[in-house]
Amino acid sequence: MKLAPSILSADFSRLGEQIEALARGGAEYLHLDVMDGHFVPNISFGVPVVASLRKEAERRGLNLIFDAHLMIAEPAKFVAPFAEAGADIITFHMETCENVDEARKIIDSIRTQNKKAGVAINPDTPIEPLLRLANHIDMALIMSVNPGFGGQGFIARTLEKARILRNHAPNLDIQMDGGINLENFERVLESGVNIVVVGSAILSRSDIEAATSAYTGKR
Ligand code: DX5
Ligand code: ZN
Repeated sequence: MKLAPSILSADFSRLGEQIEALARGGAEYLHLDVMDGHFVPNISFGVPVVASLRKEAERRGLNLIFDAHLMIAEPAKFVAPFAEAGADIITFHMETCENVDEARKIIDSIRTQNKKAGVAINPDTPIEPLLRLANHIDMALIMSVNPGFGGQGFIARTLEKARILRNHAPNLDIQMDGGINLENFERVLESGVNIVVVGSAILSRSDIEAATSAYTGKR
């Protein structure tokens, strides 16, 4: 299991110290929720923030995998800017594509930038496109809330999609994102998910390092 804390619920004036607390708590990934107010009904942050965080992580000597979750329309336009900003993984939404062939083109462009490619699906999107893409991606992201906001309730019926995908692709990185906390964490892992995004359940706590260790200590 790898932990991918989302900074969506961070104190944005203290990002440097907060990502350091996440790394000290044992987080391997830094999950970066990019929202455009169009694909989702909310705006978060974009390329310059990712670039600054990358520099800050290096300055602080933090070993974090930068995991950019693009909740934006027309993700193809932003592959190069996020790659240049320092994202290691670029995940876009299947719902932004007409079909699997269009998704394949975006995956290819991410890999041309020497980055890992992820494809995300919303709670109401069927698992079939990910079954078809499983051999062509580095990570699948199964949303367990409707994207747009941190702190929402976990949608348990999405676990079934993780089970189906895990049976189909035993070695694929499968990430789940939204509403995960210490109460449902074990169920998420049992479904076959191996990269767990946790946002508000960690970043809204006063001791972020201890809140992170509560998850990473379970391995
Ligand atoms: C939802 C985002 C998330 C999410 C995580 O649009 O993709 O990463 O906010 O935060 P929590 O854990 O608070 O749901
Ligand atoms: Zn996310």
